[in-house]
Amino acid sequence: MTIKWIGNVAIISKETIEEVFKKKPPAIKILKKEGNTEGEYRIPKYRVVYGGGTTEIAYRERYCDLLFDINKVHFSFSLSGERKRIAQEVTDGENILCLFAGVGPFPIVIAKRKRVRVVAVEKNPDAFGYLLKNLETNKLEGSVKALNIDAEELFRHDHEEKNSFDRVIAPAPKIGRNFTDILIDAIKKERGKKIYLYDFCRAEEIDFMKRLPWVVNVKKCGSYAPKVYRVCVEIDGGDIPRK
Ligand SMILES: C[S@@+](CC[C@H](N)C(=O)[O-])C[C@H]1O[C@@H](n2cnc3c(N)ncnc32)[C@H](O)[C@@H]1O
Repeated sequence: MTIKWIGNVAIISKETIEEVFKKKPPAIKILKKEGNTEGEYRIPKYRVVYGGGTTEIAYRERYCDLLFDINKVHFSFSLSGERKRIAQEVTDGENILCLFAGVGPFPIVIAKRKRVRVVAVEKNPDAFGYLLKNLETNKLEGSVKALNIDAEELFRHDHEEKNSFDRVIAPAPKIGRNFTDILIDAIKKERGKKIYLYDFCRAEEIDFMKRLPWVVNVKKCGSYAPKVYRVCVEIDGGDIPRK
């Protein structure tokens, strides 16, 4: 990882404080990544190594203001390009489900740009608290319905929402749980309705997935380890085999 700048806050992993000070802008705070992301909520561990204060940061992406504590929630900085891409594909009037919403980057970037209804689902109570705060800051409480539940509980009570979504966005946590059923239950059973499932795959798995008739596209959007890629698997709601 190279130095990541959030305004005047620098986020580092292997780099030293001295290396940060050789760069511009001058850092007012430096956070150093220590250890891997852990648990169901994929929480990373950062330590303030310069500047003092807390690990809460204010981040701005595509005219959206997002506040979060980097030590209490998972935030995928590297999916910023994907958020822009999907927001461009969305058209006004759509009904969109954002699972694993975190502090709200996908729902907020999309709803800020298009006139849509979004349902955002996040299980981590800390991330959910920031999601509500970020919806308020960006004046989107009217267009985004936020739910603090496990994604699998979504249709347990609310059957009316089943197969009602034009788009389903799922930056799934890397915890070995399979959420496929919930995606199939959510998307409309029509051609052109799209699921975006984010996952981690080897090159040969990408080739296999591309041959599945219901997969429209497999787009690499980062790397995780040597020859292991983060991918966005795009699935057509009309072509999915159903039980
Ligand atoms: C990879 S992160 C994505 C966060 C955010 N969408 C982003 O792009 O920065 C996955 C998110 O799913 C949440 N999560 C994990 N298990 C969940 C579950 N069973 N139901 C709902 N959310 C869950 C985690 O707390 C985390 O915020």
